[in-house]
Parts: sequence; structure tokens; C-alpha cells
Amino acid sequence: MSATIIEGKPVADSIYREITNDLITLKAGGCTPHLTVVLVGDDPASQVYVGMKQKACEKYGLGSETILLPGTTTENELLQVVDKLNHRPDVHGILVQLPVPKHISAKKVIDAISPEKDVDGLHPINRGRLAVGDECFIPCTPAGVQQLLLFNNIKTEGKHVVVVGRSSLVGLPFALMMMQKKAGANATVTVCHTGSGDLKPYTKEADILVAAAGRAGIITADMVKPGCVVIDVGTNRVDDPSVPRGYRLTGDVDFENVKNVAGAISPVPGGVGPMTIVMLLKNTVKAARQQSGL
Ligand code: GUN
Repeated sequence: MSATIIEGKPVADSIYREITNDLITLKAGGCTPHLTVVLVGDDPASQVYVGMKQKACEKYGLGSETILLPGTTTENELLQVVDKLNHRPDVHGILVQLPVPKHISAKKVIDAISPEKDVDGLHPINRGRLAVGDECFIPCTPAGVQQLLLFNNIKTEGKHVVVVGRSSLVGLPFALMMMQKKAGANATVTVCHTGSGDLKPYTKEADILVAAAGRAGIITADMVKPGCVVIDVGTNRVDDPSVPRGYRLTGDVDFENVKNVAGAISPVPGGVGPMTIVMLLKNTVKAARQQSGL
């Protein structure tokens, strides 16, 4: 039996509809939610992601702006840009695209973003709030994964969720979310990472397996319990001379083989990908609502 395919688009579309409704109220009150994305350097993948964020804002009627800075920008210069954005009342959300060049401390830059405008959910205030279960901005990709599960009626309550990867953008926040005693969570959580050694003894026990390691195809069929729900967060570029752009995107999961074992599985592309951007817009609308009082 082949697994049910968990597509991101229908879920994202339903959230875009909610956003459209929220925008009517905000715009009637004279507030257009505005996202500013800062990109330092010319990393091709980052340019694509930033372009997608900008396009989504335009399509759904949010204000947006991308500040492109050369790779030679100093840490101080970037901190000054962030400071200006913190003080601009027309900017509700700030996102500094990661990774930043090596000579800049990502931590220093993230710490400098006003927590009220931190629509990426990466500021320590938002991270701390997430850890204690308080209201906060949640990082967009794990928030999107939770929405994928909810929309598809996949129960997490009492289930064993195994997360592969402990990154600050995905693995760590998702594990914290799943532990909470809340609807759409309340799971038993295991986090595997590069220090875990053999992953299979852990992944085999998963009712829900979230692959967020950033390594193409590391989750193979023998690592998955029959019927498991597999969510693939990986977006790895793999060389492919047969396509015009010279590479294709592939997940952390060996999709072709795992789909014959799993109960449900999200594809790459088309699974988690569309969720990240819609959750960013949702966070921006939330930031605008909080800042405008509308
Ligand atoms: N780079 C890849 N994903 C993300 C993200 O969600 N936020 C930021 N700021 N940078 C990223």
C-alpha cells in the first residue's frame, strides 16, 4: 500500500484565505502589514527564497520590501540597518535571511531585531516564550509543519514524534511545540541529531517522523515503522545535469521507497515548502495587528 501524500498547497491556500480576511479589517483601519526582508550577499538559494517571500507578499496584498546588501557589509552596518527598521512604524515584520556571511554573527543580528517585529521567531525572547508555552512568534517552518498535521487530521496527542535535526530554525522549535500540553501537540518527543549515532533505533519507533537534518535521502525505508507519518523538511540541492538549471531539490527522505512503508508522507517539493511562506505572512499580519491595535 502506498502512503497518502500530504500536499502543502491546499493547507497553505486555506491559511491564505484567513489572511485575506484579516487584511480586510486591517486595511479598513488604515494599516497594511509590511514585511522587510534583508539579504546580505549573493547566495543563489537565499536569493530564490527571498524572491518567493516578496512575491507572496505582493500576491496577497501585504506591503513588502527587500533590502539587498553586498557581501562586504560589516556587522555594524547590518546592525544599523536592523536598528532603523526597528524604529520604522510602517515596518511590522523584519526577517534577516540566513545564513549571513561568515564575518557577521547571526546571533548578534537576530538579538538586535525587536521581538515585536521578529516574524521569524528567532529572537531569544520569542524562543524563551515558546519554551515556556507563552504566546509568541513561532518560526515559520515548524509552525507550518504543525498546520500540515492539523489540517490532515493527524493526531499528535500521545503519539511518539521523532525529530531528526536540532536546528534553531526547525528541529528545536518543533520539538518544543510538540511537547506542549496543547491541541495539535501533547506528544512524546525524541530529538535525534549528529551526536545520536545510529538513527534507526529512534526513527523506527516514530509514529510521526519529522526529517529536518538537511541531508539528502538520509531517511531510508528500513528506518520507518509501517504506517508512520513522515514529514520531510529537507530542501537539498542535488546536481542534476539533465535539467536546465543543473540541480533538483530533494528532501531528507528517500521518498520513492519510504512511501511504500509510511502511512502518509509529504513530498519535496510541494509538501512543507508552501507552508513556510504562508506562515511568514501570517506572522506578519499578526505583528501588524499587535502593533496597530486593530
Ligand atoms: N534561511 C532558510 N530558512 C530561513 C528562515 O526560515 N528564516 C531565515 N531568516 N532565514 C532562513
